[in-house]
Amino acid sequence: MPYERRISLGDLSLSRLVLGAWRLLSDLERSDADSVARLVQGAIDIGITSFDHADIYGNYGVEEAFGAGFQRWGGRRDAIELITKCDIMLTSGARPENRIKHYDTSAAHIRASVERSLQNLKTDYIDMLLIHRPDPLMDADDTARGLEDVVKAGKVRAVGVSNFLASQFDLLASRLPFPLITNQIELSVMHVAPLTDGSLDHAQRLKYAPMIWSPLGGGSLFTGEGAREGRLRAALSEVASKCGAGDISAVAIAWLLRHPARLIPVLGSLKLDRLKTMATALDIKLDRQQWFAILKASSGEDVA
Ligand SMILES: NC(=O)c1ccc[n+]([C@@H]2O[C@H](COP(=O)([O-])OP(=O)(O)OC[C@H]3O[C@@H](n4cnc5c(N)ncnc54)[C@H](OP(=O)(O)O)[C@@H]3O)[C@@H](O)[C@H]2O)c1
Repeated sequence: MPYERRISLGDLSLSRLVLGAWRLLSDLERSDADSVARLVQGAIDIGITSFDHADIYGNYGVEEAFGAGFQRWGGRRDAIELITKCDIMLTSGARPENRIKHYDTSAAHIRASVERSLQNLKTDYIDMLLIHRPDPLMDADDTARGLEDVVKAGKVRAVGVSNFLASQFDLLASRLPFPLITNQIELSVMHVAPLTDGSLDHAQRLKYAPMIWSPLGGGSLFTGEGAREGRLRAALSEVASKCGAGDISAVAIAWLLRHPARLIPVLGSLKLDRLKTMATALDIKLDRQQWFAILKASSGEDVA
């Protein structure tokens, strides 16, 4: 198998493919506790044991729905890894005190958000907590204090960030006694900017594995009607037929896995048949020319 099924981030071991819970409440028929319990077991059977959350997903409802399903599933807590995030403050009936959408990276908010996530997820520890988005008012000393507090209290095992520039990552890291172990960023054949904006160079220099959100462009790869999507579907299909991949989703994920920065795709579909197909990406190693053919389909031109 070209790619290991597990990956180490500091002391933590995650499955190489992570399941994103963002869309859990978009399909109400599938978000009751029994369905979530089946999803958890089905994902584990495919080798996916790590689940990505945020306090805000589903208008602050996903963690709780998942927690109920996790309880119903009834397996060992250490058979799965739970990732969640904080600092985005939505205007929502669930948070009437938020008059405007904003960010909060204060220590007090980090501590309070972790307490709520623990309660919602029905667990006594979170494997990894991420600061969801960079906050222009971040006081790095205060944010670091909040992160240290939740780690020291045993409520969080490891911390990272999401959507951070390298400079923002370095600032926060400079105030912490332990490393930030990931930056979760958007990257896909539909969004290739991180290949050249320095994010992946930063990750390789500091030897952390980035997590990748919307690895299929949030579904636009399948539904987009533009010339770019058309070119990409054609290029991915050609590679899929050469390497016997189930469909283009597996090749799009294999394209990410081929990058030397050890990317960890966070898959957004909650359909087990689709997840099973995408997991076959772990067996597909694209050669350089296949990889560049897909990049060309994305940009519309040869590299210089
Ligand atoms: N850190 C951040 O700021 C941030 C931001 C956004 C997301 N995230 C995380 O990243 C995760 C993944 O994001 P995402 O949901 O945008 O990922 P994605 O995998 O790029 O997109 C998922 C979408 O693609 C569709 N899809 C997947 N396979 C398909 C296929 N074979 N044919 C047709 N449609 C297909 C899915 O439809 P079905 O549901 O019908 O299968 C779903 O609507 C989220 O769950 C969340 O955990 C993080």
